[in-house]
Amino acid sequence: MKLIISAFTLLTIFLGLPAIAAPGNADNGKKVYEKRCLMCHGEEGDGAGPGAERLNPPPRDFSEALYKIKTTGADDPVPNDDDLYRMIRDGMPGTAMPGWTDILKEQEIWDLVLYLKTFAELEDEKPEDQLDYGTQVATSPESIAKGKKLFHDADRCSECHGQDGKGDAVKRLKDDAGARTWPRNLTKPWTFRASNDPKDIFTRVTVGIQGTQMPSFADEKSKKKLSIEERWHVANYVQSLAKTKRTVRAENTVVIAEKIDGDLPASADDKVWDVAKLTTFAMVPQIVVKPRFFKAANDTITAQALYNDKEVAFLLEWDDRTKSIPGDEAATKIADPEMSEDAVAVQLPIQPAEGLEKPYFVAGDGAKPVNIWKWSAGTTKSAAKVELSNGQGLEKLEARDGKAVGLTAKGAYKNGTWRVVVKRPLKTEETDSDIQFEEGRFTPIAFAAWDGSNSEKARSYTLTTWYWLLLKPPTSAKPIISGVIMALLLFGLLGWWARNAATKREG
Ligand code: HEC
Ligand code: HEC
Repeated sequence: MKLIISAFTLLTIFLGLPAIAAPGNADNGKKVYEKRCLMCHGEEGDGAGPGAERLNPPPRDFSEALYKIKTTGADDPVPNDDDLYRMIRDGMPGTAMPGWTDILKEQEIWDLVLYLKTFAELEDEKPEDQLDYGTQVATSPESIAKGKKLFHDADRCSECHGQDGKGDAVKRLKDDAGARTWPRNLTKPWTFRASNDPKDIFTRVTVGIQGTQMPSFADEKSKKKLSIEERWHVANYVQSLAKTKRTVRAENTVVIAEKIDGDLPASADDKVWDVAKLTTFAMVPQIVVKPRFFKAANDTITAQALYNDKEVAFLLEWDDRTKSIPGDEAATKIADPEMSEDAVAVQLPIQPAEGLEKPYFVAGDGAKPVNIWKWSAGTTKSAAKVELSNGQGLEKLEARDGKAVGLTAKGAYKNGTWRVVVKRPLKTEETDSDIQFEEGRFTPIAFAAWDGSNSEKARSYTLTTWYWLLLKPPTSAKPIISGVIMALLLFGLLGWWARNAATKREG
């Protein structure tokens, strides 16, 4: 008997099967809950904890038992214990719900599962309707093509998820509790509450997402119903939408500007951009300076750069579910009551970085002011424009004349994505007030974006921390060893010297 159990346990570990439910202890679950979960989910389990107000989406109200990620039928109110176990263990990406695998023991999670069920008196209920997965259809170009057709037929999924799957909805969606919800951007799997594994997508399409407007496509009554096989095709298509080239990667910290002969492209569609490397950065809401902002809509931005003898150009690309044009009727329908313009900004220190020291990342500081180039999308009454300001922190922004220094920009919105080209001459006359670009030098660079439909304006926005920009010298030219590289080399040398010295002493 012992042997069988351990063999099974091993199998569980190897196959990553869900852990076997040990009988939970609700009293112990309550204790863990009060320590770890109450601040968000509330004493009564109603989602009204002290920290809940600032969260979007809001924490789950367990008394309603409307679980989003479950593997029981759409009409079965009872989730499987494994479903709750998984969400507690892994958390829900794209939300404040953290994963607890490093903090809680397996048994504590099972105790929590049982305790959570008591809020809706589900502790004695058994789920009745388990999903039928049929035979999984392996992904292939043919299956993806079929899935794509089903996704768009009669606007089945594109109605909410948009033509390219970026969640650029044409209507305003609310969840059952009245909170604003957005259809998922299916090109960003890191924002999926579960995952973009075809089996997970199949499950969501079959069950829907309870408490939200994401419907079940296994519903006999629905005109848009999909067969089991069709749901596998759709799942394969959705998985293929992941924009893997535009994923944030820790090692991507430098925007590399390639040098080209001839004119820099004036628009985002120009093929010349293909030679420039894509670098994607995470953006976080501005919570440093009041009014603090928590409910951000944008989360990543992708940058490319090119330069020639005279100018440098950036192509900034970010997904934004709404084209926010104040005064526009269609835009008003889906926007928050006070819509502002969508906007994007590039931030650069005016003086070259000394060593690794950078200005304060939120709009610079007194000792190290920054140039901010901000492009805004315009309203029905005013055209898009690019503005220049010098910042010594958000409290001290000085507006300057962008035209006078040759700053220009052009943007276009399509299917949930903004693409904006910003250009400036490498050198200006105002050397004390403007950054002067130099080939081969590492310069700090940061980005920011505003979603005007999501009440984002002025200090309510998302931003990146500092990264680096390098105007890469053409292969024939000798690179200038900049202060930063020098510092890095020095660090390396010092480290080598210290290690050497240590080994000698030991030896
Ligand atoms: C920092 C706030 C926060 C804390 C702490 C927190 N949660 Fe959550 N939790 C959330 C949010 C927000 C959601 C809703 C996410 C969504 O709707 O997509 C959520 C959702 C859930 C869900 C719903 C899963 C589903 O499929 O719908 C469960 C279960 C859950 N939390 C359990 C817990 C447990 C157990 C703890 C403590 C160990 C905990 N949470 C701690 C914020 C929190
Ligand atoms: C009426 C609007 C609507 C339609 C139609 C719709 N969805 Fe959704 N979908 C949503 C919403 C809203 C969410 C986000 C729910 C939430 O708040 O967690 C979502 C979420 C998702 C997710 C995210 C799963 C996760 O783990 O986070 C997937 C995948 C998805 N939908 C696929 C589809 C597919 C495929 C179709 C068509 C077969 C479809 N949706 C049709 C509104 C819709």
